[in-house]
Amino acid sequence: MATSNKSFPFEIRDIDPEQVEKLKKYFSKTTPPSTSRFGPKGYLLPRKFEHVGREIYNMEIRPSDTFVVTFPRSGTTWTQELVWLILNNFDYEKALETPLAVRYIFLEFETFMNNNDMADMPIDEKLRKTVEENKLQVHKILSIASPRFIKSHLPLSLLPQKLLDTCKIFYVARDPRDVVVSFYHQHILMKELLDGVDFKTFWELFINDLIAPTPLFEHVKEAWQMRNHPNMLFLFYEELSKDLPACVRRVAKFLGKEITQEQIEKLCEHLKFDNFKKNKSVNLDNMKGTGLWNEKESFIRKGKVGGWRDYFDEKMTEQAQRWIDENLRDTDLRFPH
Ligand code: A3P
Repeated sequence: MATSNKSFPFEIRDIDPEQVEKLKKYFSKTTPPSTSRFGPKGYLLPRKFEHVGREIYNMEIRPSDTFVVTFPRSGTTWTQELVWLILNNFDYEKALETPLAVRYIFLEFETFMNNNDMADMPIDEKLRKTVEENKLQVHKILSIASPRFIKSHLPLSLLPQKLLDTCKIFYVARDPRDVVVSFYHQHILMKELLDGVDFKTFWELFINDLIAPTPLFEHVKEAWQMRNHPNMLFLFYEELSKDLPACVRRVAKFLGKEITQEQIEKLCEHLKFDNFKKNKSVNLDNMKGTGLWNEKESFIRKGKVGGWRDYFDEKMTEQAQRWIDENLRDTDLRFPH
């Protein structure tokens, strides 16, 4: 494929061989860890992101596109469903029958999939279709009909160059300690870590920026800097959790949509954690029974603010505070409590 004439102005550095060896001790063979750093912030991603990243960076954006961008486990799914329903005239029927992963394309998904992984798997056709549709190469996304709904866990700097100037973007951030706990569980869910790797080990890897796509603070700060851009709505998971109706109103206003009190109430009921957890269209429960996912974990898991306290001992709590303080020193970004 002729990609060489497309710009991708990011230095790519492989991490030290000792770090690779360290990671190999914890990651399963089927989901090898990411070991390359991209650009000046050094975002950790798989080496093969270079190809996909170049396509993404040069991708044509339409004014009718809607992006939800987050560091993983920050409230992406919750926000996607909220935004999709407001922009699709509260079509609950379609929302309940069409997996969110089909309604929203995961932009860089192919980076994280092995090339031959689906062929021999004992999975049902609907699931295969969902995954195959998400495996779309970026250039195929160009041919999807408008309006396109796109989710990404990439930082703004690695997203299409004209993104902010062209279409609306929702960025969601969450207390990094809750993100790490939630991300640890996702790694267990997706069998990325070897059995027995404990939270403390994952935490150490995370704060040393050895879990993709860290560094988390750089990811969030890039978006925070753009929070007043007319095309950007910056939300916190904690705000969604504290006052969902107020967030729904903000999202509707940002999208220029009139919304009634009755519509807000119905939407909040649909988005309520207990209902969301049962909702087959968003909970990815169909991955269970495929052998790919750990039956003991759930994609829609606890939905709590401050749940990290159950995972951190005193030393880790202090370490986390120092980590947060150091990273927030040069910014007015503060995570709400
Ligand atoms: P926990 O693991 O802390 O429970 P993402 O969609 O970005 O992967 O984020 C997943 C996190 O959001 C998980 O956090 C998940 O439980 C939580 N979440 C998803 N839907 C939610 C909802 N409707 N209400 C509250 N939390 C929700």
